Amino acid sequence: MIWRAHAAPPRASDASATSAAIAAPSIVLELVSKIYASGGGAGGESIEVAALRDVSLRIERGEFVAIIGASGSGKSTLLNILGCLDRPTRGRYLLDGDEVSGLTEGQLARIRNERMGFVFQAFNLLPRQTALDNAALPLIYSGVGRRERRRRAGEVLAQLQLADRVHHRPNQLSGGQIQRVAIARALIQRPNVLLADEPTGNLDSRTGREILEIFRAMNRDLGVTVIVVTHDPALVQSIPRIVRLSDGAVVEDTTRGAAAPPGEALP
Ligand SMILES: Nc1ncnc2c1ncn2[C@@H]1O[C@H](COP(=O)(O)OP(=O)(O)OP(=O)(O)O)[C@@H](O)[C@H]1O
Ligand SMILES: [Mg+2]
Repeated sequence: MIWRAHAAPPRASDASATSAAIAAPSIVLELVSKIYASGGGAGGESIEVAALRDVSLRIERGEFVAIIGASGSGKSTLLNILGCLDRPTRGRYLLDGDEVSGLTEGQLARIRNERMGFVFQAFNLLPRQTALDNAALPLIYSGVGRRERRRRAGEVLAQLQLADRVHHRPNQLSGGQIQRVAIARALIQRPNVLLADEPTGNLDSRTGREILEIFRAMNRDLGVTVIVVTHDPALVQSIPRIVRLSDGAVVEDTTRGAAAPPGEALP
């Protein structure tokens, strides 16, 4: 898979960024906690679940990070917060230098649309729409005309080896092809950050490697920050930075080739 870099003009959102924002790391979490209250007690009392506990994390532009950990350890919760789909209960999130908690819903929606690409395990493709229209969907929200939407969607799908499937609907595609349509949709806005939750979970290992290869090419060729939640040991092995969660806390943060600070890595 060869990912061809676009000669993309700078986007309006980039032009409006301050110089401080450009110099800042992409993502800074400071002591972020997420507490869910759910009325699930045996006696009907409310139970609090700390899905994240005092997570501090700094991710530079262009990094490639795997988030790993047992089921229930907080991976999806963390990804949702990073993607501005959810807000921390406590702590600070600085995205490109901006404090996320100070932004309005409208501003957050715009950030999600323009700067973030999401690939989730439940791919959320629209079942009655073709691959082309599914991939083009985010462009509707940013007001791109139909003709240009279809042109760009066709281009991205072709880069993902789906040129001959653009008019297929999801139920006419294989799992790996559906996943690639979801990736096309995540890429169509040329996001700064790509967030993927178990993107290879339902795929055979070869297709899984192909998906990872697409991410790697985007990261290498386009400088996209990639953050991927995965259980797949084969994928984890080849990702440069590993953040491990246990019970909502970061218990390991290792960058390949760099020793973890003493006391931070688990045996
Ligand atoms: N909306 C919610 N209300 C209450 N508790 C929640 C909610 N969402 C998640 N949790 C709890 O928070 C914890 C972390 O959940 P999360 O989905 O982040 O785990 P995960 O690491 O992604 O797990 P998995 O690998 O199974 O997907 C779990 O204990 C879960 O039960
Ligand atoms: Mg999860």
